[in-house]
Amino acid sequence: MSEIRFDERVAIVTGAGAGLGKTYALELAARGAKVVVNDLGGARDGSGSGTAAADLVVEEIKKAGGEAAANYDSVATIEGGKNIIKTAVDSYGKVDIVINNAGILRDKSFLKMTEQDWDMIHDVHLKGAFCVLQPAFAVMKANGYGRIVNTTSHSGLFGNFGQANYCAAKTGLIGLMNNLSIEGAKYNIKCNTIAPAAASRLTEDVMLPDLFNKLKPEFVTPLVVFLCSEENTDTKMIFNCGLGWFSRTELVCAPGAIIGDGKRPISAEEVRDEWSTITSLDDAKPLPTVTDTFAYIGELLS
Ligand code: NAI
Repeated sequence: MSEIRFDERVAIVTGAGAGLGKTYALELAARGAKVVVNDLGGARDGSGSGTAAADLVVEEIKKAGGEAAANYDSVATIEGGKNIIKTAVDSYGKVDIVINNAGILRDKSFLKMTEQDWDMIHDVHLKGAFCVLQPAFAVMKANGYGRIVNTTSHSGLFGNFGQANYCAAKTGLIGLMNNLSIEGAKYNIKCNTIAPAAASRLTEDVMLPDLFNKLKPEFVTPLVVFLCSEENTDTKMIFNCGLGWFSRTELVCAPGAIIGDGKRPISAEEVRDEWSTITSLDDAKPLPTVTDTFAYIGELLS
């Protein structure tokens, strides 16, 4: 089996001071990548900051013979994002890989959720991806190469009680991936998204202890490493992973029903009467771009 290597590649892993991000940083470095270990070093709810989290991971990488540089900026500001990319460019000359992983939680049921709970989650997860990816994308475009992995969640894909802020922000990352896959296509920039399940401080009080002990972050790492590699040529895909389970989730469009002839008015009753066909996912398929959606409508109407 040929080994997947990252010699001469420069990777940024956000939130790499703990949990999943730490495993990505360690594994990429062990396979030859020069890694920027970004971590704000704050608490689970986004408060506070510190340098220890990133420093300890850099130390561990260096002890094992790898190359790494620490960065302590928050992903949640434009300035922070620029600085993270600057750390990579100043230290190693470029950016080939970005893993958007930094995350916090501020769970509350919808009616109890404050504006601050909403904004902080969006700032870290969704705006954070923008802040980091925009300057990184410029470098990747200039070099004609990039591998981006975003992190959504099953809460973002399917919903979860008490996480309106997190569900919405994590779904937003799918939209960002869809766009970057399209805009990155001609520059060999591939962007994919994972929905992991792993034991970490974010999940310690939401999982039963037995499951928590089994869900080691290292079970997610191999997928992320492959997605970051040159060998991966797929883009715009969403992957579920945890405990050895790897599968795809996809947004699909079904043929549904055609009502009327495109000229006469359509009534609500006609929609009601076709409801089982309209809601059926039979023969559903993903559509590559919005242009393909219009072509698909044309095809169905012809
Ligand atoms: P974690 O709490 O162990 O790691 C997240 C890291 O991000 C922390 O070290 C934290 O200091 C850092 N961070 C937080 N805000 C930051 C900021 N503004 N700038 C830079 N760094 C920041 O959590 P875990 O579980 O490893 O989560 C990683 C990602 O995976 C998150 O995006 C999370 O939402 C996502 N995720 C995790 C799941 C799981 O089962 N653990 C499930 C679904 C999604």
